Amino acid sequence: MTEKPPAPAHDRDVPFSVPFVHRLRFTDDVFGRDWKVLADLLEPSGDQPPRVQFWLDECLAEARPDLKARIRSFERSCEGRVQPTGNVQVVPGGEAVKNDILIFERMLKVFNAANLDRRSYVVVIGGGAVLDAVGFAASIAHRGLRLVRLPTTTLAQADSGLGVKSGVNLFGKKNWLGTFGVPWAVVNDAELLSTLSDRDFRCGFSEAVKVSLLKAPSLFASLCENAPRIARREPAVASPAIRASAQLHLDHITRGGDPFESDEARPLDFGHWSAHKLEVMSDFALRHGEAVAIGVAIDTVYSSLVHGFPAADQKRVLACLAELGFSLYHPALRDVQTLFAGMEEFRQHLGGRLTLTMLQGVGRPIDVHEMDLDKMREAIKLVSRFARGGAERSAVAGD
Ligand SMILES: NC(=O)c1ccc[n+]([C@@H]2O[C@H](COP(=O)([O-])OP(=O)(O)OC[C@H]3O[C@@H](n4cnc5c(N)ncnc54)[C@H](O)[C@@H]3O)[C@@H](O)[C@H]2O)c1
Ligand SMILES: [Zn+2]
Repeated sequence: MTEKPPAPAHDRDVPFSVPFVHRLRFTDDVFGRDWKVLADLLEPSGDQPPRVQFWLDECLAEARPDLKARIRSFERSCEGRVQPTGNVQVVPGGEAVKNDILIFERMLKVFNAANLDRRSYVVVIGGGAVLDAVGFAASIAHRGLRLVRLPTTTLAQADSGLGVKSGVNLFGKKNWLGTFGVPWAVVNDAELLSTLSDRDFRCGFSEAVKVSLLKAPSLFASLCENAPRIARREPAVASPAIRASAQLHLDHITRGGDPFESDEARPLDFGHWSAHKLEVMSDFALRHGEAVAIGVAIDTVYSSLVHGFPAADQKRVLACLAELGFSLYHPALRDVQTLFAGMEEFRQHLGGRLTLTMLQGVGRPIDVHEMDLDKMREAIKLVSRFARGGAERSAVAGD
């Protein structure tokens, strides 16, 4: 019997999906009594122990002179299970690491010198900026090394560390260069937050407020109730708030149906069109979390003016952010024209129509494609006035 010739190829659209696993762990002391949690994540490749390279945020390294020795001791505890690859690598902390292409090049050189391959682990310990920059380098070396993130700011533990993005800044634009990719694992360790300044400790909670407004009225209520205690860094309330926020972000990524942001909408970016622009306008004097607090306040007030977000809830949002310790004002807010350019930049970053998330109520987000710029100006003015406090504050908040 003669074999049939293969059917001729047709033009076809073939959808396919790739299974990913997102591994999130919570620890109290990852380089101490919880070391096995991290060790167990570093799976062997074949019969060889995997190569592991540690990258550390410089500010954290300075604040924690014991940390390098603790990492060494972790490596000794893992003896036979991992292959260390020399020194712990230290990179500048904060936005500086995302603005310097030479540091980025060094990362690639160090990966190469250590012969890292696709089954090697890059373990990065630091704030969101260091996670972003080292993560981006790891995502393009050999088309992707295994990335284990240990976020050391509340913001990165509650939000960005869970994300499936990494990147650096280019052309004066945030995250212009970057990739989508699922980290091998994320370990949120409570002890690594201990050296954060109060300012940086506060920053993660604006993202927690944001995600609670979008998805979790009960978390929002608890943040309102506990804001003063969170501002005092009481672990009994701060840690559960970080956990809840991390969980909501993770659920969004793994179950929201659009982890790589193909849709026009980017719901987790409530308050971010202005936040990103304010960071740049302030020359990064404003931290991301501080800019997000202002952005969330502005879009909440705008939502009240235009989309029926209840006045009483608007009052709670502003009060909650203020009680967490956010100032909700920066002089850059006076340059509304430049700020509005942030809307177009936000659109360009995603492509397609301008799509911003606004709120009709707590837990009731909507996508909008058109903005009433006069109302947005009014919202910015009202938030600025609120930030100045006193009688004006209660007037804005709807008393
Ligand atoms: N990839 C994503 O999905 C995503 C999402 C949101 C934000 N981001 C990015 O995250 C970055 C902001 O990250 P961040 O808010 O974590 O701040 P950050 O990384 O800028 O850190 C703030 C400062 O704290 C220092 N630091 C970090 N941990 C410390 C510790 N435990 N003790 C003492 N000092 C410490 C840092 O060196 C830095 O100076 C921005 O670049 C933002 O664009 C990324
Ligand atoms: Zn953010």
